[in-house]
Amino acid sequence: MSKKEKEDNKVKTSRRGFLAGSTGFAAGLALGSSGLSLLAPTKVSAQNVDESAPYEKLNPEEVKLMAHENYHKGLDCGEGTFKALIELARDKIGEPYTEIPTVLAWYGAGGGVGWSKLCGSANAGAAFISLVHGRSKTTKKLVDEYWRWYSQYPFPQYDPPSDASGLPDLDLPTSVSNSVDCHVSVTTWCQKSKYSSGAPERSERCSRLIADCAARVIELLNAEKDGKFEKVAVSSTPTSVDPDNGCRSCHSKGKDFEIGGFTRGKADCIQCHQAPHLKR
Ligand code: HEC
Ligand code: HEC
Repeated sequence: MSKKEKEDNKVKTSRRGFLAGSTGFAAGLALGSSGLSLLAPTKVSAQNVDESAPYEKLNPEEVKLMAHENYHKGLDCGEGTFKALIELARDKIGEPYTEIPTVLAWYGAGGGVGWSKLCGSANAGAAFISLVHGRSKTTKKLVDEYWRWYSQYPFPQYDPPSDASGLPDLDLPTSVSNSVDCHVSVTTWCQKSKYSSGAPERSERCSRLIADCAARVIELLNAEKDGKFEKVAVSSTPTSVDPDNGCRSCHSKGKDFEIGGFTRGKADCIQCHQAPHLKR
């Protein structure tokens, strides 16, 4: 088989695997370009591979400019973040990133077509981590850290080149939202800055936020690649009862219903609740 034929074969295999939502590209990776990879999808089941993708360290500074520009091209926060990460990976790593359509993250705009739930950038950055680390504890660990960091970060920090947004030299206020929700993130910032949620300055704030987020995703993946990952962001859940788990020592998935196990989640409890029963 010529080199060209091998390349074609690889692309076909990985595309078929991806479109079938199956294990084609993981199998293709395992078997390399031996040609056997064409047979592989029938032999490997979704249960026994984690479908992680190869990763080489990327440059967090490079992704910022791309993400910021994507936002203003109409890709908004979700695809704006995802496309910047995927395109950088396409350039530096190649397959399987060349096969992933970035449009799958577009719905994330405005926290999910304007529902203002999970921030599109928190969502799409986590999707990229999932792509790299597959169905694994590492994916969970990195996404946990990414979202905790998001909740506590004074957005926006990125300062784009003055011609990139059409709003040159804007000095935007920053805010911490204690949440990964678009609604909380945007509203907290609007209250602090006194810009309305429909103002171009608010869009600009979000376009800078996604640059910060895409860069953080790369920093986390690079640290993991180097074996230097450290959990930095800490839960702000009150720890008076249990220093490790706070409210979640009773209110978490899988616990006894009677002691409080009728809820789940890792978000900042006190933002939405008080816990009067603890004061008794
Ligand atoms: C020691 C176990 C325990 C811990 C720790 C705990 N809870 Fe509870 N929680 C319960 C139980 C049991 C109930 C239901 C019975 C009750 O209301 O006392 C409850 C009820 C609640 C309710 C609904 C009723 C109410 O009183 O408001 C809320 C809200 C709540 N918990 C939030 C929290 C938050 C927030 C924290 C952390 C600050 C927390 N809980 C920590 C056991 C716990
Ligand atoms: C985004 C807001 C939000 C966050 C963050 C949140 N909750 Fe809730 N929680 C709710 C809503 C809304 C309900 C359902 C309505 C209600 O009962 O208050 C609820 C219900 C509950 C209940 C049952 C209340 C009852 O009356 O029996 C408990 C207990 C609870 N949450 C605990 C927690 C804990 C512990 C955390 C942190 C790990 C947490 N929640 C984080 C919004 C939130």
